[in-house]
This record gives sequence, structure tokens and C-alpha cells, in this order.
Amino acid sequence: MIKTDVIIVGSGLAALQLARQLQEQLNVMIITKNKVRDSNSYLAQGGIAAPVGKEDKVGLHTEDTLTAGCHHQHEHIVKNVIRDGKNIMKSLIGDGAPFDRKSNGDLALGMEGAHSIARILHSGGDQTGRYMVEYLLNTLDEKVWFVEGEMVFELVKDTRGHCCGVKTKLVDGSIKYYSAPHVVLATGGAGAVYSSNSNARTATGDGMALAFRAGAALSDMEFIQFHPTLLYLDGASRGLISEAVRGEGALLIDEKGERIMEGVHPQLELAPRHIVAERINGERLSGKKIYLDISPVKDFEIKFPSITKMCKKHHISLSEGRIPVSPGCHFTMGGIMTDEFGKSTIEGLYAIGEVACTGLHGANRLASNSLLEGLVFGERLAKHLITANINVSAVKTDSKPYGNPPELNIKRNELKERMMKDVGIIRSEQSLTRHLNWLNAQSLSYKTELDPLSQSDIQTYLMWVVSTLITQGALVRTESRGGHIRSDYPGENDEEWFKRSILLIKNNHQLKVVHDEQHQIEIYA
Ligand code: SIN
Repeated sequence: MIKTDVIIVGSGLAALQLARQLQEQLNVMIITKNKVRDSNSYLAQGGIAAPVGKEDKVGLHTEDTLTAGCHHQHEHIVKNVIRDGKNIMKSLIGDGAPFDRKSNGDLALGMEGAHSIARILHSGGDQTGRYMVEYLLNTLDEKVWFVEGEMVFELVKDTRGHCCGVKTKLVDGSIKYYSAPHVVLATGGAGAVYSSNSNARTATGDGMALAFRAGAALSDMEFIQFHPTLLYLDGASRGLISEAVRGEGALLIDEKGERIMEGVHPQLELAPRHIVAERINGERLSGKKIYLDISPVKDFEIKFPSITKMCKKHHISLSEGRIPVSPGCHFTMGGIMTDEFGKSTIEGLYAIGEVACTGLHGANRLASNSLLEGLVFGERLAKHLITANINVSAVKTDSKPYGNPPELNIKRNELKERMMKDVGIIRSEQSLTRHLNWLNAQSLSYKTELDPLSQSDIQTYLMWVVSTLITQGALVRTESRGGHIRSDYPGENDEEWFKRSILLIKNNHQLKVVHDEQHQIEIYA
């Protein structure tokens, strides 16, 4: 058994921000199932939103965030994350972090959907995630211990029910055990459980599944953001075309060149994402092909080097100005329910970044708020852990046996295709029930023993868990709000659902729905 002070699972921006703030005081280990640079953060094109411009205000950014999230948020969290985020960004700018600047030296602030003012900081044009990850990695000293290629597949609890370590599975099938009084899940979102997505292939919602199996509460799992514009070729999505491209003036058109957002929303191409994604989806279902017309964008190749490279790789002629697009899964608003420091409902277990549901994003995340959230919660949790009482001697494992090893026959690609079709942009009771019946027919349960399984089978199993949780949440919410659109319940139903969250908590494998008066609905799954 290997002991440390803090185990961080995942290696995106939130994880690195936490590690760099802790490294002076505590022993930190970062465990990642792949390589350190395999993360959604690394791929992020969009940038970091923060009210650092002269005309901007914390209140204005707060208002935009609440509007995009359909007010399904904790308002105090929104306000204080944006306030703290502004300070963090100012200090990163002061420290020389590589944000893009105009020729006069001022910060180049970009515009994205549903923002009322240009406030997005970018690095290297559309390579913000990569630049920021490299910047933070450079601030880490050799004391931070990286473990690559080991998949955390179980959270270990002590006899008091506190999280006190993790078990990992290696490619050769062996198992290792790491112990620490603080375990932080920073594993990112679950976009890769959908066949069409913009995410790193590693973003399979593992942290959510692990926390749920350990008994932590998850919240808002039904809210999934579909990005309107993924490059779409030969029946498959091939990568993200950043909203910043529309921020620079690109238009959404059909094959006749007609603009498809006119008359749909006053912000046209820059309307909230769920509205743009729903429109493109509707047009595509009616048989049209949809394109991003980039001819109004000046210096496209200079501003968007990654997108240019991707388009060239797929033989898209940028001089013709048309990039074929379709929506795909992009961001998971829900996740492990945490407080304002990132603490989950299990003592010793924390969640930061996309894996967490902090109350910031509500029903739909405002573009470029997620890297900001990772930086804020990484810093906040570090402050909390530095002052927390570390009681290493309390670590004593409670090894509860699981049931029999399963036969895993489930096909990962089929699960992803079914998620897209039945739990995708538009859902209904019929489609959700169809998917849940299919999931239930897979002879798996929330208790399935994972020790005997290979890394690959554990991965598929964890995707089954996350897929089930998203589907259960989506079935219960009988309205349409933000990233949850039900064809059988169109429109928001404030009377029944305003500020009500669906919590998913594992309890005796019975499904029980409890309505209470505190704006929460609990499902014991
Ligand atoms: C994008 O570049 O369009 C994505 C940005 C984000 O999702 O925050």
C-alpha cells in the first residue's frame, strides 16, 4: 500500500491548479488512467471567461451565467465563483500567463454565445487548454508524484465511512492500493458516453460512477450540453469547431445559403447553446445539411490554428468558406454534488472541475465558464485542505465483499450510439424507457464486483453506470430546461421544477423517488 496526503484522480486544469497550490505543504499524488495530457482541459479551444475588461462587471457576468443556466443555479455560488475567478485571472495575467493580446498590448477579449460583452481570454488562438495545462505543469515541482496508466476503479472507505484511498487497475490486470486522508476526483465529464462528442476519449464520467458506487450524492445528471458545431463528415463527428468562430462572425447556413438562426433567437448564431443545437438538429432531421459559413471571419487560419489543422486533415477547403457541422455532446452540467469548497457528501472525498456539480452551471453552462470553475475550485479546495486536520492514523479499510464477478457482454459502441439516439438532444419517455430497458437487460448492477475485470471492461462498466444515471435523471424531470429537452414535456414547468434538483444516491438497489419541499428530489437508485 502506498501512502500520501492527497490523491488527485485526473490531470486536467482543476487537478493541476489544486496540485500547484498544495505542493509546498502536502504530499500530492496525481493518478491518471492514461497520459497526463489526455484531458478535456487540454483540448479546450474556447478560452476562459472572466470579467477583466474595463466595461465588464462581476454582476454582468453573473447575470449572463444565470440566464444561460435557466436560473437553475445557486446564485451565491455563481456570484462568488465569478468574483474569485476574476481575481485568479488577474493574478495569472500579472504572473505572465500566456493570454493573447492585441497589437497595442491590451488583452484580446473574445465573444462567445450568450455573453453580453467580449470577455473570453484565449491563448494561442484556439489552443487555450493546451497552453494553460502546459503553463500549470511548468509550475509544479518534482515533489508532485504522477502515476500514469492506472485506472482508479474503486474508492476505499474506512470503518467510519470516510474515503481513505483508491484501488487502481493496471493494463496487466494487477491491482494497486493507494491510501490518503483526502481523495479528490478531478476526472472530467462524461461526454464520451455519447457516440458524437467533442470530448477527450478518456472523458467517460468515471469519477461520477466511482463516487456513486461509494454512496456519494450526484445531482443534475440529466443536464447535458450539446455543442452546436462539431465538424461532421461521412456520418461522424470529427472534432470541435469553437463557438469563438461564430463570435468572430461566422454564420450558420443551409445548403442554399439561407441563415438558419434568423427568427429563432435575437442573438442569432450566438444564442444559448441548447437553442442553436436544437435548431441545427431540427434542420438536419428535416433532411438539410448545415454549414458554418466562415467567409466573414478575417484571418481565420491565424486565429484558429487548431481548427485549420483539423479541417485540412479532413480535406475541407477553407477557401470555399463552408464547414459541415452537426451538434454533439460537449459538457456534463451535473455530477458529484459538492459544497462551495468541493466537498462531496462523503467525508474525505472531494470533486472539482467538470466531474462536480457545484451549482455554477445550472441547466446549461455559459461558454468558457468551465476552465474558470476548475481554477477557482482548485484554489478553494487547496486552501481548505491546507487547514484541514489530517488524520492519517484513521486509515483502516473496511473491505466489504461485492457479489459475483460478472460476464461483461455489453458493447461499448452500442451503448454510445443508443445514448445519442435515445438520451441525446431531444428525449422522451418512450426513448428514455427504451434505453433504460436495454441497460437493465445487461445483467449488471451498481454492486458488480470489478476486481476480476480488465481495465477495458471496467471502463465499459463505469460507462454503463453513468449512462444509467443520466437516463434515470432524464426520465424523472418532466419538463424541458437548458440541456434537457423532452419532446413530451416541451417548455419549462416552473410550478413543478423551478430550482428543483434530482439527486441520485445509491441505497439498497431500490428505485425510490422522494419529493420534498426543499427544492430537491431524491432518487435512491
Ligand atoms: C467552444 O470553443 O466553443 C467551447 C468553449 C466552451 O465550451 O467553453
